Formats: sequence, structure tokens, C-alpha cells
Amino acid sequence: MRQVRSSAPAKVILFGEHFVVAGRPALVTAIDRRAYVTCSPRSRGILVRSGRSMVLWDRGRVVEGSSQVVNSLRPYQVMARTILEEHGGVEGVELEIMSEIPRGAGLGSSASVAVASAKALTTMLGVDNSSEAVIRYAMTCEKMIHGRPSGIDVHIAAAGGTLLYRSSSDWTSFTHNISPGILVIDSGGRRGTGKMVESVQTFVRNKPAEFQELTHVYDELLKESIEAIEASNLRRVGMCMNINQMLLRLLGVSSNSIERAINSAISAGAYGAKLTGAGGGGCVIAVGEADVMRRAAEALAKKYAGSWLAAVAVEGVRVENA
Ligand code: PMV
Repeated sequence: MRQVRSSAPAKVILFGEHFVVAGRPALVTAIDRRAYVTCSPRSRGILVRSGRSMVLWDRGRVVEGSSQVVNSLRPYQVMARTILEEHGGVEGVELEIMSEIPRGAGLGSSASVAVASAKALTTMLGVDNSSEAVIRYAMTCEKMIHGRPSGIDVHIAAAGGTLLYRSSSDWTSFTHNISPGILVIDSGGRRGTGKMVESVQTFVRNKPAEFQELTHVYDELLKESIEAIEASNLRRVGMCMNINQMLLRLLGVSSNSIERAINSAISAGAYGAKLTGAGGGGCVIAVGEADVMRRAAEALAKKYAGSWLAAVAVEGVRVENA
């Protein structure tokens, strides 16, 4: 049985994070940062390596490794065990994670790792490695990590390109050419997606009428955003992002670092900007004319180390050493 290396892209949510958890459609684009997972057979146990950390499980018990990373790596071990038990034939496996995607920054890092891991392991075993199978396994992982994922992250990591996503049974591909103008700025600050989703659920429980009104505004905004993107009208797309950010601010998921990064992007010439992903810190996206955003990327990279002008990753999950 040979070693298999797979990769899956990061994503930015153009419109609709949190609203998608409540069943509204959202627009999401895969971008040019990837998580790579190398899968190798072992005589026994499940070994997960990430950077310099590693944990080895045998029959579900930790037998070696650093306790700080056990919880963050466990979902991948549970998923690997599920796949091995479903298919039999191999006693153990090693997953080595090498990711270009910052964690907890709103770029879907955990989903990309889960999707790449599921693809590598199913391919190594020679069992069903279709997108449907990979998504099914990766979703079990995401549920352990976030509690209540909409599924948007695993679907975009599997499919690549851009999706109009509502649920795992209701999504379509969407083509646009605004990507040369999408600037990703890492505002710093990290948080857990599960915690942010939970805080929005609390908002929904405490202020149902207010949430209903925000959802109504969001629905109208999404129609306008889709039209603006289809017309490649970056000024209107930017305006829509500013309104989406206002809704996210009202939901309580923005932060001072996010607002500062948004102001920097607008000062550098962006038409609009918003947080992407769960919020509470992490990345901001900004749109503007490509040449203006190129200069903005250079200027902002000095202040925000993890900033770049993103390109769409047309390819979703893939095997690297086919
Ligand atoms: O922060 P991320 O990259 O995990 O994105 C979360 C997106 C949410 O809409 C907040 C949650 C979800 O599952 O859709």
C-alpha cells in the first residue's frame, strides 16, 4: 500500500457567514492557500503529526505525544478510525498535516485538513474517495470541532471554485471574475468557530424578532450582491460587503482588530470590506479595483503580516501524487 498526499484549499465567505448556519444561502470562494496531508500505512495505531507536534493513539487511547494538541488533533484520529473500521484490511495509519492556512482565522483551516485527510486515506485504502464520501467523513470531523457546522467549509474545500451554498443538499457552482480584487488581511486575534456560532445562537434565542429582521435585510442584500458580482461591479460588491459587515457587527461577531483592519483596507482604496468566517478576530476580506488592491496588499503587508491578494482556487481537493 503506497503513501498518498492530498491537498484541499482554504476559503473566504464573500457573503453570509452565520446566516448560513440559520439556513440562508451564502457565497463562498476557494482561495490559493492549501492544507496538505500525507497518509502512510502503519502496522498499528493512528499517528497524527502537525508541524512539530504529534499524537499516537492505539485502540482509541493516547499512548504518546504532547497533551496540548490531543484535543485539536483528536477529530482527525476519530475520522481515520471510522474509515479504517468501515473498510478493514489496514491496522494503522499516519497522517502528516502541513498547512499553509492559518488556524482560527476564518479561512476554513480545519475543514481543509479534514477534507484532505479523508481524501488521502480513502485513496490509500483504494475505497470510495468520491467528493460525496470525502464530504461525509469530513463532516463528522467538523461536527466534533464546531458542534454545528453548516457544511459550507467542507463543501468548498472539496469542490473548489465558488459556491452558492445553502445546505449539503442545496448548493450550486457560481462563476465570477472579481477574484483579482479580493484582498485577504489577517487582523490577528484567534478564536474558536464553535464559540462564535454559539454566541450567535444565544443572540437568536434572546432576540428572535431582531434576528428575523437582520435575516430579512440579509436576504435582500444577497440578491443585490449576486447581481453586483455577476455584473463585475466591484464598487457595488464593496458596498454590499460594507452592509454585510454592519449585519455581522449587529450580531456581535466583529472585534476591534477586525474593525481596524477594515478601516485600513478602506483607507488604502478598497470599495468595501468585511470579516470572513466566524469572526471575533482573524481575517478580513476587501474588494476594489485590481491595481489599487495590489498596491494596498503591498502597503498593508507591512502592518498585517498575513495579507495577500487572493486568487480563486478552481480545484478543490486533489491527490498530489497520483
Ligand atoms: O471561521 P470558519 O472558517 O470556521 O467559518 C465559519 C463559518 C460559519 O458560518 C460561522 C459557521 C458555519 O459552519 O457555516
